[in-house]
Amino acid sequence: MNAVASSMVNGLLKVKPLASFAKHQARKMMIERAETIGVYWRDEVKALRARDTEFAELSSDPAALNPIWEQALAALTNPSVVYPSYYKTSFHAYEEGNLGWLPALEVDVAARAVHARIWPQDDARSGIEGDQQLRNSYHQVLKSTLTAEKVPERIIDLGASTGRSTFALQETFPSAQITGVDLSPYFLAVAQHTEQHRVQPLAATSSIAWVHASAESTGLPAESADLVSACLVFHELPVAAAQDIIREAYRLLSPGGHFAIMDMNPKSETFAKMPPYILTLLKSTEPYLDQYFALDMNEVFTQAGFLAPCIVCNSPRHRTIMGQKPML
Ligand SMILES: C[S@@+](CC[C@H](N)C(=O)[O-])C[C@H]1O[C@@H](n2cnc3c(N)ncnc32)[C@H](O)[C@@H]1O
Repeated sequence: MNAVASSMVNGLLKVKPLASFAKHQARKMMIERAETIGVYWRDEVKALRARDTEFAELSSDPAALNPIWEQALAALTNPSVVYPSYYKTSFHAYEEGNLGWLPALEVDVAARAVHARIWPQDDARSGIEGDQQLRNSYHQVLKSTLTAEKVPERIIDLGASTGRSTFALQETFPSAQITGVDLSPYFLAVAQHTEQHRVQPLAATSSIAWVHASAESTGLPAESADLVSACLVFHELPVAAAQDIIREAYRLLSPGGHFAIMDMNPKSETFAKMPPYILTLLKSTEPYLDQYFALDMNEVFTQAGFLAPCIVCNSPRHRTIMGQKPML
């Protein structure tokens, strides 16, 4: 992205009414995109809100939230979690950021809408399956490195959100014990609900443990994982948090274990050629994008103690970074 365009966009976003307008436009664009490709955004969110047909029938208000959600939230919330200030900001055009029901109920449809256009329209991976294809492309990179050595038995998914990345890991490594960590208990409540209602992979041997914690300080035991994965999390982090999480991943891994990050590729042509107004919309919803784009992952991984990471492009605009903790 060129520096002049970038500073112009940042200047525009400092003007509050313009920033609000950009957020509003970004959300509108996303819902429209979803519905044109067959992701029925409003209906899906309404069904999730109601959680069961009985509630939907009893409630005349389509925006009513089944009170079971609040019970699930209370059960999952770890009261000792302190939210870092960078996390309590607005993300993805939601004023409440990741800490609310609306973002939690819409994560899934939003992911499918956003990822529908990763591949060109004439590519079979484009469209409604784009999100799944993105995860497949990541897991192909994981498998090509990991299965040659040892299939991971214990996996931690940092920034698990509503579970899309966690369920995908379970499908790829069905015999692993998997823990999903996230700072948003709202997202974890949706993940748990989805897990209870989805068809488990046949070979899955255990249910997923959902942990409300920060990825920089998970509270999980040292050396308790063979694979730590952070899928689409790092573009949401300021530099200091990214460094802390890479150090925490190192602590969590057994010697020889791997840390994998899959996220946007700052070097991809998509971002370099992005028209300034689209960039404005993107940045208005992703407050730490500049910091993420500027971060030298190679350096941060090696400073944390990992062997030099390998970096592989797994989609036209995503990359996978994999670092191994040295053997003893
Ligand atoms: C874009 S979502 C990605 C979710 C998921 N991994 C996926 O692949 O769809 C990023 C997630 O990271 C979580 N997150 C961001 N910063 C975090 C932190 N410091 N600790 C734990 N979770 C964090 C957010 O709450 C959100 O659920």
